[in-house]
Order: sequence, then C-alpha cells, then structure tokens
Amino acid sequence: MADARPFHWEFKPEQVGREILRIEGGRRLEGSVSISGAKNAALKLMAAATLTGERCRFTNVPEIEDVRVLTEVLRDIGVTVDHPAPNVYEVASGDVDWLFVPLEAAAKMRASFILLGPLLTRFGRVIISNPGGDRIGRRPVNLHVDAMRALGAEIEYRNGYYFAKAPGRLRGGHVNFPQITVMGTENAMLAAVLADGHTVIEPAAQEPEVDDLIEFLQKMGAQVERTAPNRIEIEGRRRVRGAEHSVVPDRIEAGTFIAAAGVTHGRITLKGAPCNHLGAFLDVMSEMGVSLSCGADTIEVDATSADIKPLRGLDIETQPYPGLATDLQPPTCVLLTQAAGISHVHESVFEDRLEWLGELRRMGAKVEIPDHHHAIIDGPSKLHGAEVEIGDLRAGASLILAALAADGVTTIGGAHHVHRGYEKIDAKFLELGARIERLAEGI
Ligand code: UD1
Repeated sequence: MADARPFHWEFKPEQVGREILRIEGGRRLEGSVSISGAKNAALKLMAAATLTGERCRFTNVPEIEDVRVLTEVLRDIGVTVDHPAPNVYEVASGDVDWLFVPLEAAAKMRASFILLGPLLTRFGRVIISNPGGDRIGRRPVNLHVDAMRALGAEIEYRNGYYFAKAPGRLRGGHVNFPQITVMGTENAMLAAVLADGHTVIEPAAQEPEVDDLIEFLQKMGAQVERTAPNRIEIEGRRRVRGAEHSVVPDRIEAGTFIAAAGVTHGRITLKGAPCNHLGAFLDVMSEMGVSLSCGADTIEVDATSADIKPLRGLDIETQPYPGLATDLQPPTCVLLTQAAGISHVHESVFEDRLEWLGELRRMGAKVEIPDHHHAIIDGPSKLHGAEVEIGDLRAGASLILAALAADGVTTIGGAHHVHRGYEKIDAKFLELGARIERLAEGI
C-alpha cells in the first residue's frame, strides 16, 4: 500500500448531468425488448475479480452508471479495467496500490462496499467509506462488518471510514446473520474464498444474483457451494484464477417492462428474460389478469384484455428471494393504481421505500401511506400528466411507467437516477412505441 499518497485525494468520475424526461402518455406499448445483464450481479462479479491478479472477462455487462462508477473506483485503486466492446469488461487486479475506497465513490453507490470482503481477504487491509446509495431507509452495513469480524478481521470505525485489517490471513468461521442480507452474504462469501479454513454462511440470501456470483467463483477455482437453500459453505483457498462469465439477465429490468406492458394495456415480448427468476412477481401479474407466457428465454406479455375488463387489485408483501422482490414493489404499485379494488402493500424489506408514492399521488393515484411499511391503493384511477421529481432508482423507473399510462404530458426531474441501473431505458421504451424524450443531457 502506498502510504505516501495523500488521504484526501479527489475522486472525479465523469459528472452525471441532471436529466429531465418528457413523456406523452396514453400509448399502448407494443413490440419486443432485449433484457440487459443484471446490475446486482455485474457489480459483485467485477468486485470478485479483485480476488486474483489474473485477468477476468465479463460479457453481458449492463452499460449503466453504477458499472461506470465501480470502474472508476477500481481504476483509482490501481486495478486495470478494460472495456473492449459494448457490454464487455475485463478486470485485472495485479497491482492494487491503494487500498482505499473514498467517500466520494461510496456516496455515489452503496454497492462500492462490496469491495470490503475481496480486498481485505486478498491484501490483508482496506480503508473503506461508509456508503450512501439510494435514499431508501437507513441501509446500514453493520451486518457486513460483523461478518468480517466473524472471519477474524479487526475493524475500527473512524471519521466515516472503516479501517479493516486481517492479521495474517482471514480465517474460516460461522457467519450467522440475524436477518437476510444480499450484499452481506456476498461480502462474506468473497472474503471466505481466500480465508484459511471452512466458512458457513447462514441464513444466506437466495437471490439469483448470489448464485451467479457462486458460479463465477467456482470458475475461478474457489470452493463455494450452496449446501442448502439458505446455507452457503466455502473452503478457503490460497489463490484463485482468472475466469470468464456472462452476467445473468436482469430480472428486475424484466419485471419493470412487464409492469409497463400492464399499465399501457400493451403486448410485448421480452428477449433474454429470466422467467425462472421471476416466480413470485409473475404470480402477482397473472392474478391481476396480465397474460404471460414463458419461452426458453423469452416472456410474452399481453395486457390488451384490460381494455375490456379491468385488472384486479390484490394484496402484496415484499420478501427476500424467492418472495416478491422489493425492487419490483414500485412498478407493481403503479400497476395496482390501474387495477380495480383496494390493494394493500406491505414493504417488509426496507423502510422508506414507499415514500415515492407521494409523487404518484400527484399524478392522480389514490394512495394512502399509514406507516413506513404499508400503503393502501384504491383503483383504478385515471392518472394525469404532472411535473414530478425522483430521488431513487426503482421509484424513478416506476414514475416513467406511471407517465406512460397517464393522460397528457409528464416531466420527470432527476431522471438521471434511473441510468444508475437501467441500460438505455428511454431508447428501449421508444422502440416499444412510447413518446419519451430527454430534455437535458445525462450520461
Ligand atoms: C440488495 C440489492 C438491492 C435490493 C436489496 C434487497 C444490490 C447492489 N442491491 O441490496 O437492489 O433492493 O438487495 O433485495 O445487490 N441491513 C442491515 N444491516 C446491514 C445490511 C442490511 O440492517 O449491514 C438491512 C437493510 O437495511 C434492509 C435489509 O437488511 O432492511 C436487507 O438489505 P440487503 O439485503 O442487505 O440489501 P442490499 O444487499 O444492500
């Protein structure tokens, strides 16, 4: 580690311009759309590549802002990240010379905290900022820190930074999470790959992106296995090698487009879509009256019957996988505003992930939010164009859906947030027949 480097060096990723989207609603979506690689897998795979000095190659990486931010963070600590073609990234972490992940990076993207496990286990120390990320609840990282400590790490928290050390090598151990955490599971798993001995992680998150990471780690030569639905076991190795991997398709992007077809009474085909990862969400869509048909890697969505017979409202509750994804709660809520009856929404994973419904109300939705975890939606209500503002990724995409369904013109401020996690979302909607334009340049 180059200790001579000044502590307050400046992290300067390309600035993201503020963006406003103007959408003229009321048009049925029709046609086909290709689903990109999953954000929540790509970021962890790129972080996993730092476990080895050998080159790793990733295909089907989504061209999104979060990937660009992680690329900058990795380059700043001395990792080579090449981008030889669209959606292809190569990561080579031979000479990591500065084991410091700064506040400027972490504030832009909470997922930068995933670097804690791999850097600590490979290099024996790292200084990493307490992350910010989406404004959806407190989103602490205590479970990640506790997991590292269970593997023998010494971690101190000072001035917004975690100073983590592994005296000698991390050692295998039992990581028992008091609740399910996706990135906590992944961080623990990445740390355990190069630890000395056997690690058991329980309860381990079951999200498909976690399994995508396991598959990649196995290609690297790591001994990692899911030995029960909610248990992952790792036998630590001294080193792992470079490997190649294609990122799993983004089930959240797929779900967003399915809900978009629903709200516009459209008929679309999703290509490269992971039907088998969307079970709980597809059940909700079917119960509401959206017709779905799964092919080998396509999903056909037909909501045209809603012209004649309105969709049906229902009660939903978000849960860790295989339950209904919290990331699909916002698009589902938009669809519920278009469904007949009273729907109760229980957001059980995050607090404050229902706040965005206030903006939906400004577009004519009848929504009550009795507390941080519950909402009541009374539908169907005719949505109308409005000027709305978005503050986080998934809610942002959902306001686009609401605008597509609304009468008249909606302008959505803060739309650049959506590019954090959705590749070319406006272009994809344009292809499906939406009237959508960028009023200010973003990325
Ligand atoms: C990941 C996803 C995010 C998704 C979420 C839940 C990435 C980059 N992001 O986020 O899109 O919405 O899973 O499916 O993969 N918690 C703590 N302490 C911790 C960690 C988490 O209290 O140290 C709490 C959180 O506040 C939340 C719950 O645990 O209430 C679950 O969060 P978690 O599964 O960790 O979400 P992320 O991995 O951050």
